Amino acid sequence: MKPPLLLLAAAVALALVVFFSDPGRANIAPPAASASAAAPAAASPQQAAAGQLVLERCGTCHSLDRLAQHRQGRAGWENTMRTMAQLGASWAPNEQPVILNYLVQHFGPR
Ligand code: HEC
Repeated sequence: MKPPLLLLAAAVALALVVFFSDPGRANIAPPAASASAAAPAAASPQQAAAGQLVLERCGTCHSLDRLAQHRQGRAGWENTMRTMAQLGASWAPNEQPVILNYLVQHFGPR
């Protein structure tokens, strides 16, 4: 009888995303003085979808906490994704760049 557990996991994951989406992000403030490289508007629907994707692909074995504690550049995230794939993570080939871009944008080096 696992379904309730799954539901709980989903709820926890969702709460994490809500939690982590606000620190540097300031979704209430206008995106004017955003320090992030060339990101146009702060939270486009595409970004939200990418966040959901990362949650689904990277939040099942460990919390997304892990990502926030592991800020690094593009090469680093490419490397991490390779390692995660070896550990059993998987995603569709066309999801790879979406996930990678999201990781670099949100968990890049400070
Ligand atoms: C199949 C399970 C699984 C999935 C899915 C998964 N990981 Fe991991 N991840 C692990 C394991 C196992 C570890 C290492 C053990 C630990 O520290 O808990 C780990 C550790 C990490 C770490 C810490 C590495 C370190 O050196 O401290 C990061 C960062 C990370 N994962 C990122 C990701 C990202 C990004 C994704 C999605 C692309 C992802 N993980 C998906 C299993 C997974």
